[in-house]
Amino acid sequence: MSQQKKTYYITTPIYYPSGKWHLGTCYTTVVCDALARFKRMQGYDVFYLTGTDEHGQKIEKKALEAGIDTKKYLDKQIDSLKKVWEVYDISYNKFIRTTDAEHEAAVKKIFQKLYDNGDIYKSEYEGWYCTPCESFWTESQLVDGKCPDCGRPVERTKESSYFFRLSKYQDRIMKLFEEHPDFLEPKSRMNEMVNNFLKPGLQDLCVTRTSFKWGIEVPFDPEHIIYVWVDALTNYITALGYTSDDDTLYKKYWPADVHMMAKEIVRFHSIIWPALLMALDIPLPKKIFGHGWLLFDDSKMSKSKGNVIDPLVLADRYGIDAIRYYLLREIPFGVDGNYTTELLLSSINSDLANTFGNLINRTIAMLNQYFNGQIPQKGEILGTDKELIDMAEGLLDKMVGCMDNLEIPAAIAEAFKLIGRANKYIDETAPWALNKNGETERLASVMYNLSEVIRIAAVALLPYMTQAPVKVLDAFNVPAEGRTFDSIKKFGFIAAGTQVEKLAPLFPRYDIKKELEALDKVVAEGMKEAEKAAEGAPEVKAEVKPEISIDYFSRMNLRVGRVLKAEKVEKADKLLHLTVAVGKEERSIVSGIAKYYTPEEIIGKEVVIIANLAPVKLRGILSEGMILCAEDADGRVVIVSPEKAVADGSEVR
Ligand code: MSP
Repeated sequence: MSQQKKTYYITTPIYYPSGKWHLGTCYTTVVCDALARFKRMQGYDVFYLTGTDEHGQKIEKKALEAGIDTKKYLDKQIDSLKKVWEVYDISYNKFIRTTDAEHEAAVKKIFQKLYDNGDIYKSEYEGWYCTPCESFWTESQLVDGKCPDCGRPVERTKESSYFFRLSKYQDRIMKLFEEHPDFLEPKSRMNEMVNNFLKPGLQDLCVTRTSFKWGIEVPFDPEHIIYVWVDALTNYITALGYTSDDDTLYKKYWPADVHMMAKEIVRFHSIIWPALLMALDIPLPKKIFGHGWLLFDDSKMSKSKGNVIDPLVLADRYGIDAIRYYLLREIPFGVDGNYTTELLLSSINSDLANTFGNLINRTIAMLNQYFNGQIPQKGEILGTDKELIDMAEGLLDKMVGCMDNLEIPAAIAEAFKLIGRANKYIDETAPWALNKNGETERLASVMYNLSEVIRIAAVALLPYMTQAPVKVLDAFNVPAEGRTFDSIKKFGFIAAGTQVEKLAPLFPRYDIKKELEALDKVVAEGMKEAEKAAEGAPEVKAEVKPEISIDYFSRMNLRVGRVLKAEKVEKADKLLHLTVAVGKEERSIVSGIAKYYTPEEIIGKEVVIIANLAPVKLRGILSEGMILCAEDADGRVVIVSPEKAVADGSEVR
């Protein structure tokens, strides 16, 4: 009888596509990927969800700054994120975008349901809004008048809005925390939520906006846009088809086993999300885990701070295994951890090249030297062997224990303890001496044990590093049945007589000082670009011209004009012939903007002209002045126009 597999549903937060992707962004995703892979190998039917959070004022502003259509801006961003996930071997089962039609339709149904149940009501909102965090705050929640989450300035807003009765769920959430102390981890985060939010009392949450359009409309009042966090949080169920015609996945995987995220968004996941689910009368996720931040020079690595490390630059330089290993093993899970390239390089040198790589290369070299590259017969088990074999057979249980408690670095450390022990075993058994003394049987036994330990360690490391362990298993010609967790519970799978292939060193050893200098240059370049991206300023190569005096400038007669007529110049696809009203006067101006503006578009526009430029004839047409335009790095040209309407002919100074 076939047994139904146990399911495991794991999610990352959905990312704001509002800037450059960085190593901090990769952190949660790599952690979830290791968990998802581990659970799959344990035999779980895993659903790993990630995606992007694409609505809200922040995104609208970013697209505007980039000067492109919002959807186009998003598509570009999402392509670049998917590229990072591809490079990092992220094994997600679904990538949801909150602009997906299915998601939008489901959010509307959910909102309607909350309204119909009386959990959403209309009222007046007056308070503070933090655009970067997309969060509302009351006066008392502000810290020094700024957003308590990110410390940035907030804006006063007043409007008629819809509210979610969050306060109604205060007691149930308190009870949830009391009765399920594992619901929110690490423990410190639960204390923070209780002390900072639950004890002072939950207030109803404003869940609509009217000041911008980029979002999902409230189905019964389309003037209003659904608050981006309500839209975003529901992705965890809409991705599974909740409210859709086909909700098989929802039935199968919900409730989630773990929602993983960094600490700054724990409030949304551990208070607002459970309250929404309670209102919808659906089961709560089993666990919320709020890990720490990946810091850079002790400050959070983030797009807006511009201190980002480009994950693609690192992957290109060191390979993804090294980066995944570093994030998973060296950054303590649950608390903040500082990124330093020095630590990254020293962990490559010591753990990956010296400990892991060395064991493999030494073993393969000895197999070649003593047994023509074939795994020999196992022999009698002696005392030294026993310790190693017991450790190898006990490895998986230990790792499962750690992974169940989400102690990821500790799980990897267990595998490395075995690898370290195997290196010591080589020194203890001294195969070269056994060979010299003609102790062939013992030598065979030692080499068999080493080969099998390598197989076990490589299989155990598969969830964390996706390349090197596979190369090792390939080199030892381990068949698929020998690459499973089941197969490493017992020592002795690897078959005598198996041919072992030569393997190039898996990890290089770096001269840390030299490498740091080389990388510094690359990172500095990346940071410059990130700062510009964060400021929304595309790179512009404007010519630097010599200084001029104010006198010199005042000789220019700049005036505001209005375009009355515009027509294409025959046989000149760059030129438009404009008639511009400058005060009472009408000027004929030929301008090279035909590629950027159609005559229809430009008629009626206010422009700035240099009115005392010597007239010239262009294609036989008199041009009495020039209109001012700005040109960006891509060569895109836009007309300079007064910020508010002024009378034609007004002077520009
Ligand atoms: N869109 C919201 C999440 C909605 S979930 C329903 C959001 N997006 S975000 O792009 O700003 O951040 C998403 C996640 O990125 C964070 O929670 C965290 O998991 C990860 N990180 C971004 N910067 C990080 C670090 N420097 N360090 C660790 N994780 C970081 O919040």
